[in-house]
Amino acid sequence: MEITKEQIEDYRETGLLFIPELFSTKEVAEMQAAVEDLSKQDIPGRILEKDKKTVRALHGCHNNSEIFDSLIRHPSLLASACEMLNSDVYIYQFKVNLKAAFSGDVWPWHQDYVFWDEEDGMPSPKALNVAVFLDECNEFNGPMYFIPGSHQQSLIHLGQKDSSEIPNNWESNVSAALKYSLDNNTIAKLTHKKGIVAPKGPAGSVLFFHSNLVHGSAPNISPYPRRLLIITYNSINNIPSFKGKPRPEFLVSRDHTPLKPLRGKVLI
Ligand code: SIN
Ligand code: MN
Repeated sequence: MEITKEQIEDYRETGLLFIPELFSTKEVAEMQAAVEDLSKQDIPGRILEKDKKTVRALHGCHNNSEIFDSLIRHPSLLASACEMLNSDVYIYQFKVNLKAAFSGDVWPWHQDYVFWDEEDGMPSPKALNVAVFLDECNEFNGPMYFIPGSHQQSLIHLGQKDSSEIPNNWESNVSAALKYSLDNNTIAKLTHKKGIVAPKGPAGSVLFFHSNLVHGSAPNISPYPRRLLIITYNSINNIPSFKGKPRPEFLVSRDHTPLKPLRGKVLI
């Protein structure tokens, strides 16, 4: 798949681009199997929900699984990311948010770049996310919500929450009580002008979104899981300074080698 000039323009305008069913059922099944396998292992990047038993997220999976190491080099994802960022890229983060049936918790409204700037010293928002649906995303299972065009306001800095409320550690960047979330007033103002979209579609669909785009998602009270894989590509001209104590490597990659696309059959 090659993205068109119109799609790039649309991405620049809205901050997101949805491509339904990019991956086949067989490719999705292979990725689901890899996620299942990693979920059972007590690896450092595995985060649990508040109930301390449901897996909330798996981080750094491209280092623990062959299929995910290939996925980050998939030409359809990689070439599009390079084109959108106008640069060669490396892998900054890789995670799967599992949003389990009945128990997957909320992701409060936020912008990703705030975390990468504050926690890692990323110089500019020259990074983007590619979300791959590992399940159908529907109106019931906690699809991601976006405020289209909100990336154009750059950083909406509200400061971090009261430190007695949120502990100052990397866990508070991946839990349901996020360290840098946006307040209701800001969301109400933004949505009044721009509205909210929640891209939905079959497993295998792909969603590119800008690092400053305001987003979040509701808890999953449905019987349907919503596994969402998110790759973050960063421009090789935008390496973080890693001020202070760097976050663990499963959250922020230290390998800045520009990625090269794989040829031929990539996943299966
Ligand atoms: C995120 O903001 O990184 C993830 C949100 C979600 O999985 O719904
Ligand atoms: Mn996010």
